[in-house]
Amino acid sequence: MFNTNFNQQVRKEIIGINTKVPVSNKRHLQYINFDNAASTPSFKQVFAKIEDFLDWYSNVHRGTGFKSQLSSKIYEETHQVIADFMGVDLAKNTIILVKNTTEAINKLANSLQLTSEDIVITTIMEHHSNLLPWRNKAQVVYTGLTPSGRLDLDDLERKLKKDQKQVKLVAVTGASNVTGIINPIHKIARLAHQYNTKILVDAAQLAPHRPIDIKPDQSPEHIDYLVFSAHKMYAPFGTGVLVGPQETFQEQAPDYSGGGTVKSVTLDDVIWANLPAREEAGTPNIVGAVALQESIKTIQQLGWQNIIKAEKKLIDYTLQQLQKLPQVKLYGLTDTDNLSNQVGVIALNIEPLPHSLVATILAHEAGIGVRSGCFCAHPYVHQLLNLTSAEIKRFKEQIKANKLSYTPGLVRISFGCYNTKKEIDRLITTFQSIIERITINFAFSTQYTLNPTTGEYYPTNN
Ligand code: ALA
Repeated sequence: MFNTNFNQQVRKEIIGINTKVPVSNKRHLQYINFDNAASTPSFKQVFAKIEDFLDWYSNVHRGTGFKSQLSSKIYEETHQVIADFMGVDLAKNTIILVKNTTEAINKLANSLQLTSEDIVITTIMEHHSNLLPWRNKAQVVYTGLTPSGRLDLDDLERKLKKDQKQVKLVAVTGASNVTGIINPIHKIARLAHQYNTKILVDAAQLAPHRPIDIKPDQSPEHIDYLVFSAHKMYAPFGTGVLVGPQETFQEQAPDYSGGGTVKSVTLDDVIWANLPAREEAGTPNIVGAVALQESIKTIQQLGWQNIIKAEKKLIDYTLQQLQKLPQVKLYGLTDTDNLSNQVGVIALNIEPLPHSLVATILAHEAGIGVRSGCFCAHPYVHQLLNLTSAEIKRFKEQIKANKLSYTPGLVRISFGCYNTKKEIDRLITTFQSIIERITINFAFSTQYTLNPTTGEYYPTNN
């Protein structure tokens, strides 16, 4: 049973919930956002807080005026709010506010003083932001998957054992942005520590869906580094978070230098500021910090158990409905009976249609927003699609030649805690209509036209 009371409560909190968008045949439909893995809409409470705060807004750390003092206090408090939210001990660790997860991982990669002798073990499931920043800094080794689609912890351990001395970090996603699979981050932390290395958890997709406890520093299950983005947590105002031990950021000059990062500058010397200021160069995103604080507060008020339960209902119901459509092929987990280890992300294709055509039909005919393609996780999607190296090579050649007509990919449905059964019903009805048209007369070719240089379809008569 869906919890209607919770759903009504949470929907009242979402900005834009009733927005109608233009769709085919000059109709307008209430927009359905099934692209929450990319960004969630804003909580109303977050926006209201920003509006209140703007009366008191001023630059931080520099002014003596009341507004500057107050803004500085609120900005600094944000670090403590995040620490309390995730169990971070600020006596040993620091919380650095950045722009987003990508910037946080790049900052960490720049701060770890890696050499070409060092190894970073990451996984085949990662988003590019947890692959590319490591590539020109260290040797990168990829942990594979089990036949059921989960991260292969035996493979990880083999790799840790083989290269013990050289492994400087295990960099792993908390949950996949493609399949929603949740990784056992504390088990992985235990393994990493057993082999004397550290763990980074990319929590961009986990933080909006599950409480995270980084655990005490002395615990074998402690998460050494953690990153996430506020725009996936109902606070799309440009803040990201990097948590890590202070010592990582104290041993060298800051990643960026300039205003705010120093205590003293002479023409031939500089004394860097304390953390986190030395890593938060320039005027920080003060409004974004206020937004993240308020989204944390709102999530706590809504209650994790309610959020988890509501999202699980959405996944269960969608999968039940999709099972009735044999043309829908699901990607990711094969042990779908264990859905408690999955956040609300479902990757699929309607065979034999191109992913981008399905995504365009959903938008154009049903006002449903999804994402299709490889979701900034190309290696993982290639693996899920079982592409051969010859096929990958051919696609790369086509991309170089700007020919994107047949790019591999998937359609991704991703839920927020506010989505509803009724919205899923509209998705399923649209899928049914698509499937009927495949079997009857392949009518799409007149209705939709492919742009061969972008790989996107658009309605022919619009
Ligand atoms: N990582 C985000 C996504 O998967 C941008 O859509």
